[in-house]
Amino acid sequence: MQSAIEFLFRGRRHRVGDSRARMTLLDWLRQEQRATGAKEGCAEGDCGACTVVLARLDDGRISYQAVNACILLLGQVHGTAVLTIEDLGAPDGRLHPVQDAMIAHHGAQCGFCTPGIVMSLYALHESGSGITRAAVTDTLAGNLCRCTGYRPIVDAALAAASARPVPEPSFKAALQALSDAAADDSLVTDEAGFFAAPASEASLRALLQRHAGATLLAGGTDAGLAVTKQLIEPREVIWLGRVAGLSSVERDEARLILGAGASLTAAAPHLAALAPDLGEILRRFGSVQVRNSGTVGGNIANASPIGDLAPCLIALGATLELAGADGVRTLPLEDFFIAYKRQDRKPAEYVRRVLIPIPHATRQLKSYKVSKRLDEDISAVLGAFAFDLDGRRIASARIGFGGMAGTPARARQTEAAITGADLDSPATWEAALTALTDDFAPIDDHRASAAYRRLVAGNLMRKALMEVAGTPVEVTRLMPPREAAHAD
Ligand SMILES: Cc1cc2nc3c(=O)[nH]c(=O)nc-3n(C[C@H](O)[C@H](O)[C@H](O)COP(=O)(O)OP(=O)(O)OC[C@H]3O[C@@H](n4cnc5c(N)ncnc54)[C@H](O)[C@@H]3O)c2cc1C
Ligand code: FES
Ligand code: FES
Repeated sequence: MQSAIEFLFRGRRHRVGDSRARMTLLDWLRQEQRATGAKEGCAEGDCGACTVVLARLDDGRISYQAVNACILLLGQVHGTAVLTIEDLGAPDGRLHPVQDAMIAHHGAQCGFCTPGIVMSLYALHESGSGITRAAVTDTLAGNLCRCTGYRPIVDAALAAASARPVPEPSFKAALQALSDAAADDSLVTDEAGFFAAPASEASLRALLQRHAGATLLAGGTDAGLAVTKQLIEPREVIWLGRVAGLSSVERDEARLILGAGASLTAAAPHLAALAPDLGEILRRFGSVQVRNSGTVGGNIANASPIGDLAPCLIALGATLELAGADGVRTLPLEDFFIAYKRQDRKPAEYVRRVLIPIPHATRQLKSYKVSKRLDEDISAVLGAFAFDLDGRRIASARIGFGGMAGTPARARQTEAAITGADLDSPATWEAALTALTDDFAPIDDHRASAAYRRLVAGNLMRKALMEVAGTPVEVTRLMPPREAAHAD
């Protein structure tokens, strides 16, 4: 058992064994280290001014991930290297290619957003993956610039793409040593509370038995906002980020199994492989920074009525695995959500895995997210539709909605009403569209009125049916594909 968290910063190993493990990474950087390059804008993960990069070893390779330092607790960098704008460039004054390109392309005016933008582009650059215009615009979805405009910034990112990243062998060795050290349980205690980073499920269960009221922290993209927006200082924190096996993603013939701790970034390609629409939902989930930190389990456990994953997973027929003192139990995902802010989770239980049946060839899945902005916005309504076809007839259906009730929910009456409908006869769809109004009585709030949500839900259902029936997508999707929209 370790009594501190450890990470690399400015090439040196740092050990923190006191209450600072529960302060935000941004406060630690700016207040304790005077590393003021990372800025505080919104303090809620939206603007990206605080973006820093965490480097860690992933299957023997260094991964560079942009994260929002404002909503991350310092303890969450345990086992990683924290890289900030001050780390870029060589000691002799040479700049990183991204910095050079930002200057050459006039990518900054007031400069408030610039450190965050450079760090996001640095992570993309160092990842060594294809740097296309679409990849750059996705990367920048979580970085707001209010004065330069994005064209020069995108040009800078593309110009820097030709300079290849140079891996540093000593950095890899340092990360390996750090990762080995972080393979043990850590418990950082102080007079007010603790920050625990259990390394196994057995340790997690034991901690939860003793501290059932502790805050379970995964990526912190929801929980971190309680700290910065509601000014709640969590006293007892159990962080799931180092629990061995909890972040795994496995796929076999029958199922895709997502560990609760799998990040949304890690889960995205696997979900996209089940249905292209799921890939698009994940691409529009928050921003790169939010997806790098946020987890599958966090998105389900928070039971937000407007969480994006749950309706999709409900439509796919997913099962949830919960673990606690009495062992592991499973339940259909939709049964986990009892009422607004009430879930079927016992004290000291945690979400362990989500088991998703691989759709068979006759199942068609469509899902759509409607939000005020295309990128980096929470849903007003999300509809996910799985239709099992028998020729041109709908043999059965599973439909999940977000934004239509106090929880993510299944549209059972609509499912029954659409069963047996003929894809070639839209008149047979009408009963189901009417049934939607029996399934849900949505609320009015600042995101959307009840009338709007009802109208949109019906339109999404009609759109799904049209697309499954074979209506060309140009008719039902006015947004041009991302790459085409940006073609030079
Ligand atoms: C800028 C921004 C944009 C966002 N955009 C979207 C979006 O587009 N779509 C969307 O759906 N959400 C969005 N979110 C919300 C959030 O990112 C997601 O809900 C995310 O999946 C939460 O995961 P996390 O790991 O960060 O959870 P955390 O914040 O760590 O935890 C959330 C809650 O779940 C509990 N918890 C976490 N893991 C477990 C577990 N394994 N077992 C039991 N309890 C657990 C925690 O105790 C806490 O109550 C956004 C958030 C931000 C800040
Ligand atoms: S300060 Fe805006 S995302 Fe962190
Ligand atoms: S340069 Fe001013 S906000 Fe981006």
